[in-house]
Amino acid sequence: MGSFRDPRSTFPLLISALIFFLAAFKSDAADVALGSVLRPTDSNASWVSPGETCSLQFFPVDAGGASLYVAAIAFGGIRVWTAGGGSTPGMVDSAASLQLGSDGNLRLFNGSEVLVWESGTAGRGVTKGALLDTGNFVLSNGSTVWDSFSNPTDTLLQNQNFTLNETLRSGPYSFSLLLVGNFTLEWNNTVVYYNKGLNASVVANVNLTSPSLTLQSNGIVTLSDQALATAPVIAYSSDYGEPGELVRFLRLDDDGNLRAYSSVRGTGQATARWSAVTDQCEVFGWCGNMGICSYNDTEPTCGCPSKNFELTEPGDPRKGCRRKQEIKDCPGNSTMLQLDHTQFLTYPPDISTEVFFVGITACRQNCLSGSSCVASTSLADGSGLCYLKVSNFVSGYHSPALPSTSFVKVCSPGIPNQPPLSHQP
Ligand SMILES: *[C@@H]1O[C@H](CO)[C@@H](O)[C@H](O)[C@H]1NC(C)=O
Ligand SMILES: *[C@@H]1O[C@H](CO)[C@@H](O)[C@H](O)[C@H]1NC(C)=O
Ligand SMILES: *[C@@H]1O[C@H](CO)[C@@H](O)[C@H](O)[C@H]1NC(C)=O
Ligand SMILES: *[C@@H]1O[C@H](CO)[C@@H](O)[C@H](O)[C@H]1NC(C)=O
Ligand SMILES: *[C@@H]1O[C@H](CO)[C@@H](O)[C@H](O)[C@H]1NC(C)=O
Ligand SMILES: *[C@@H]1O[C@H](CO)[C@@H](O)[C@H](O)[C@H]1NC(C)=O
Ligand SMILES: *[C@@H]1O[C@H](CO)[C@@H](O)[C@H](O)[C@H]1NC(C)=O
Ligand SMILES: *[C@@H]1O[C@H](CO)[C@@H](O)[C@H](O)[C@H]1NC(C)=O
Ligand SMILES: *[C@@H]1O[C@H](CO)[C@@H](O)[C@H](O)[C@H]1NC(C)=O
Ligand SMILES: *[C@@H]1O[C@H](CO)[C@@H](O)[C@H](O)[C@H]1NC(C)=O
Repeated sequence: MGSFRDPRSTFPLLISALIFFLAAFKSDAADVALGSVLRPTDSNASWVSPGETCSLQFFPVDAGGASLYVAAIAFGGIRVWTAGGGSTPGMVDSAASLQLGSDGNLRLFNGSEVLVWESGTAGRGVTKGALLDTGNFVLSNGSTVWDSFSNPTDTLLQNQNFTLNETLRSGPYSFSLLLVGNFTLEWNNTVVYYNKGLNASVVANVNLTSPSLTLQSNGIVTLSDQALATAPVIAYSSDYGEPGELVRFLRLDDDGNLRAYSSVRGTGQATARWSAVTDQCEVFGWCGNMGICSYNDTEPTCGCPSKNFELTEPGDPRKGCRRKQEIKDCPGNSTMLQLDHTQFLTYPPDISTEVFFVGITACRQNCLSGSSCVASTSLADGSGLCYLKVSNFVSGYHSPALPSTSFVKVCSPGIPNQPPLSHQP
């Protein structure tokens, strides 16, 4: 009789064991154990968030015929973070792997075991990785050691906070936030071609301490800070507040513009709803060195200053232009060829070294006689200012609406792109 056990006492035990087992199983499904590996060739391999809103896996990318892949987090069909992405595209071949090592370091290897990227978290007690339903991938040792939201590449997902010391990158372009609450776009970590601040009345009597930029899920971009009672609005997406199952994100595109997008969840198709730089031709370097940006009927396009130049890469006008003959190799004299309605872009920090208060003739002549000067712009906007371009990288903008006249140094004779209209019969 003593061995008899009341089934009513065993039953709850079994139930709780089952619940414990299911709970453990569920967390195992969402967690990424040390030693886990993803490979592009294993098409089912992915690390998925508990609610299956997002996954971390290899995606094939269009790379001009070669089969290359990126290891990326996709949220509702949109790639929001890429291992090794940002200033480089992070593309790897079919023999690549993404490994969460037993030392707690997350590494991306190209084929032939070439290390492309790592989280740098070896020896910090990482016990597991986890992809959260927010789209954040976290390496933790009980607390967060590393997460993808704090290490963004070119994209910020809705509700993801962007703070000081974080940077979005795309090729030579970067986007960052300043302590005063301004946000900037830079080319090659030097030229600041966009710098926008809050309305002066908002920040007049406050010192921000930890500003944070966020694209809200309703499509409004705000800046929040402990010192501000309410978060001022920086921009409204054109479809803000519209209902629907949307994924919204901010992306620094490879053309150097920051845009807010919305995408119907799961389609993978996104539409730009706001761009920081409204005039694409004002993005420094978009047409490469010596490239001239202009608008055809519909779009910004890239060309060369004159027939003294040719495209650096014939198939790709965005790679810039080069002189057919270098100035130092001119058989005769060099000259300054006039470009009407054209401006060479000058932004900080060059604004302090390349700007002079001289008229149009001196603007042309001083560049011709200056051995390091390659081009100049007389603004003709009433300011009386002249840009003398001595940098080894210059970026031009042509538009009938621009009052500026520019000059570019070439070997004589200068050959304009088209004969001036007045010379035509
Ligand atoms: C990986 O290797 C492929 C060639 O197999 C190459 O095209 C690609 O650029 C490499 N990726 C990186 C990030 O070095
Ligand atoms: C967990 O990581 C944090 C942040 O890197 C670190 O300060 C802490 O010492 C780590 N804990 C253990 C147990 O390694
Ligand atoms: C972003 O910051 C707000 C407070 O400013 C906070 O409530 C929210 O949880 C943060 N979001 C994430 C994803 O960390
Ligand atoms: C940003 O970096 C500076 C120095 O590099 C540091 O003093 C500051 O605490 C950092 N801020 C944040 C929010 O991490
Ligand atoms: C970008 O900046 C680096 C120095 O930071 C410089 O060496 C390089 O020439 C620059 N790139 C171009 C295209 O000017
Ligand atoms: C912040 O942006 C404003 C323009 O919006 C500009 O006048 C100001 O100089 C910027 N401040 C800094 C520190 O860059
Ligand atoms: C700045 O804010 C004030 C008061 O809210 C408003 O009247 C003014 O139009 C704003 N200026 C700009 C440039 O947005
Ligand atoms: C902001 O900082 C400046 C310089 O540190 C200080 O003089 C000023 O009193 C501060 N303003 C506020 C509102 O804290
Ligand atoms: C405008 O330029 C784009 C890109 O260079 C080109 O695809 C398009 O055909 C051009 N349109 C016209 C009307 O020339
Ligand atoms: C070159 O320029 C100098 C000074 O402007 C002038 O004296 C000389 O005749 C020119 N030579 C040629 C070949 O045009």
